[in-house]
Amino acid sequence: MSKQQLVETASAMVSRGKGILAADESEKTLQSRFDGIGLEATQDLRRAYRDLLFTTPGLEDFISGVILYDETLRTRSLDDVQFPDLIAQQGIIPGAKVDTGLTGLAGFPGEQITEGLDGLRERVQTYRELGARFAKWRAVFAIGQGAPTRTCIQANAQVLARYAAICQEAGVVPIVEPEILMNGTHSIEECEEATETTLSTVFYELLAHRILLEGIVVKPSMVLSGTECPVQAGVEEVAEATIRCFRRTIPASVPGIAFLSGGQSPELSTAHLNAMNLMGPQPWEISFSYGRALQDPARAVWKGEEANRKLAQEVFYHRTKCNGAARFGKFSPEME
Ligand code: 13P
Repeated sequence: MSKQQLVETASAMVSRGKGILAADESEKTLQSRFDGIGLEATQDLRRAYRDLLFTTPGLEDFISGVILYDETLRTRSLDDVQFPDLIAQQGIIPGAKVDTGLTGLAGFPGEQITEGLDGLRERVQTYRELGARFAKWRAVFAIGQGAPTRTCIQANAQVLARYAAICQEAGVVPIVEPEILMNGTHSIEECEEATETTLSTVFYELLAHRILLEGIVVKPSMVLSGTECPVQAGVEEVAEATIRCFRRTIPASVPGIAFLSGGQSPELSTAHLNAMNLMGPQPWEISFSYGRALQDPARAVWKGEEANRKLAQEVFYHRTKCNGAARFGKFSPEME
């Protein structure tokens, strides 16, 4: 697999005016999302829901890639097409979540490490055969009570780098996702400091593991005030702190940054993305790879009812359009 192909895929994932749909919830996570609409996430309903999202008319207007979970990569649409093929037919790049989830970091209460390196080389190969051209691995860091510790940051950064190396070896673009959780009483300054330390460590390890930085996409969290912090930073302040932090830590060789939403409301996620894109040219594309912020309003309209499917697709399309506009700094609240 040539380096050129990695570079081309990575830059297509962050192409202008578009972003990535994260639809890679595990069965357990999707159940917790379905709890919000009072539904049991049965296999049939999981399939119907993913079908609704991926057959939305005009999906390709503002979506460049879709992240899928193991089950979805192997499932057929209601019209009997493999989901990755259905996505690729629309000119959208299919990808796969390849980590196997979080576990407590032994010796460091409250901190977590991501698992899934065992058998990863074979798993990535299988997903590639199923159509995935990129992968995702999520590492998580909490702020508070001394966390994130240096040990937790280093351990996760090293694992992220080992994952990225295995993906690139197979010609699959790794999405490198270090998420600083927004829960907590911490200030935006504390979040900036934790993000700066984490990102700089992650890039140190990526280089140490000989990762081609032109062939990755970074999926970070924004620099935000903790959800329980009495002082909540405004949109401009978040945009400025986030870009400042990234300019210090993310090399210009990286083609793009695709944010996670992390529990922010759909509207705020879009407003933050817009504000960052208004700040003038940056070395990298500033894009989105939202899960909840793209899906929540549509799922709330759908409620598992076939009769609501079309309206849910319209609501979903509208969110992709708002974020597509935010990629150019052209979103305005009137669009809501
Ligand atoms: P959220 O946008 O809901 O945070 O999900 C993005 C994601 O893929 C987390 O790994």
